Amino acid sequence: MEDTTQTIVKTTEEHRPKEPFTFIIFGAAGDLAHRKLFPALYNLLVDNLMNDECQILGVARRPFTDNEFRAAIGDAVRRHSRRPPDSAVLERLLAHTRYLTADFDDGSQYGALKTMLDEPGQFPCNHLFYLATPPSAYPVIASHLGSHGLAHARETDNWVRIIVEKPFGHDLDSAVSLNHELHQVFDESQIYRIDHYLGKETVQNILVFRFANGIFEPLWTRQYVDNVQITVAESLGVAGRGSYYDQAGALRDMVQNHMLQLVSLIAMEPPVAFEADAVRDEKVKVLRSIRPFSTRDVADWTVRAQYEAGSINGQEVPGYLDESDIASDSRTESYVALRLLIDNWRWAGVPFYLRTGKRLPERATEIAIQFKTAPHRFFQETETQALAPNLLRLKIQPDEGISLRFGAKVPGPAIKVRTVNMEFLYDTSFAGIPPEAYERLLLDAMVGDSTLFTRRDEVEAAWALVTSILRGWNRARGPVPTYTAGSWGPEAADSLIERDQFHWRGP
Ligand code: BG6
Repeated sequence: MEDTTQTIVKTTEEHRPKEPFTFIIFGAAGDLAHRKLFPALYNLLVDNLMNDECQILGVARRPFTDNEFRAAIGDAVRRHSRRPPDSAVLERLLAHTRYLTADFDDGSQYGALKTMLDEPGQFPCNHLFYLATPPSAYPVIASHLGSHGLAHARETDNWVRIIVEKPFGHDLDSAVSLNHELHQVFDESQIYRIDHYLGKETVQNILVFRFANGIFEPLWTRQYVDNVQITVAESLGVAGRGSYYDQAGALRDMVQNHMLQLVSLIAMEPPVAFEADAVRDEKVKVLRSIRPFSTRDVADWTVRAQYEAGSINGQEVPGYLDESDIASDSRTESYVALRLLIDNWRWAGVPFYLRTGKRLPERATEIAIQFKTAPHRFFQETETQALAPNLLRLKIQPDEGISLRFGAKVPGPAIKVRTVNMEFLYDTSFAGIPPEAYERLLLDAMVGDSTLFTRRDEVEAAWALVTSILRGWNRARGPVPTYTAGSWGPEAADSLIERDQFHWRGP
């Protein structure tokens, strides 16, 4: 059979790190490192995308010996890897792993880190730092790395890069100042701000779907698109992260980063090249074109709510205020719905509706693009009055795929039209479990490709928009509305979209 797979930009070979490097993880004893980073490193090794010269150095406060740390990694890989671990490969990973007990707030301990990294023949001189720590530690760590001469390579052939986890600030001012603090030490080209949604295969496919096919892009404008809906629904609650979540809420936790990234990929113009800055230039233009929210707009076009006790899949779940580490009088939202308008030539007048929430009936992330109806209802006298408009659904997760809804004639003598779906499913078209988002993102940082990481101006443009909503909410009085866990959110979210004569599309 003919292989129609085309590698347009980078081959696997080009995506394999060429130089050996040391991967230094601050916060290596924490949850993120165990659930995501070590399983990702293990799978990269299985796929032969990392070589045996690379070294991993975990840094955290917990007093581990090298062997205790290796045992913890082994355990993490066995529990969280997408593939059942092969003990020989796991042994190879562990053989290249060391640990340093250190308090990252304490500048005097960076000397030990430097001494360790300088041990002759032990650690490759290219350094990839990963900040998997509480965000309050980012500026401190960056500044100590700088003052110990660890932020820049000594030799011109070597490199130093730093990956920074979310949340990147909690409003525009804090994001600007975090950028400023990082820039005191690192150049922008060294900083990799992670948004794990960009590493998802289905999210990367948005650009391929739009720009590698000739038939969709001409329709991708205000002339043909009626509205766009983005839903990120989760059935999970705050899942043991109450102390973080209660300070953040759904707007900061999901909209500022993941959902605005989805908006920018859907709405951006074709970039001049598939390169980091060209792609990010176009994304940032979208973010800057989104109309900021006035206090009035916040009242009219945003809805926030908190879940109350309910049941999901037949299981009783507590309300938000009864979760652990949540303030009893918390006003933090676990649900948000809003309408965005993009003031540019392509999208003027096309509403983008976003909603996300915890404790909704199921986990589903989907982008639905609803097209305008046919200009003339030719079949008006028949049973087509209720014919639904064409709808393109990009199913990000789970049941990854794309479907297109259109009208078809029901077989028989009468002209009866019914809507049907044309479906593409990843599962059936591509074999195997796709790589996890963190695998792709770590690999990109290892090879120095920042296309799937957010740039300084991008993160600030997203925060500028979100901060305009936060300001409106802070001025609002009265109780925060609620919704029952296991429902699709508060009634106010339905009213918001129904005011424009649309309805939320159930995933
Ligand atoms: C994280 C949020 O960034 O994304 C979590 O902090 C959320 O609250 C998670 O649950 C969702 O990610 P995914 O990949 O499960 O959709």
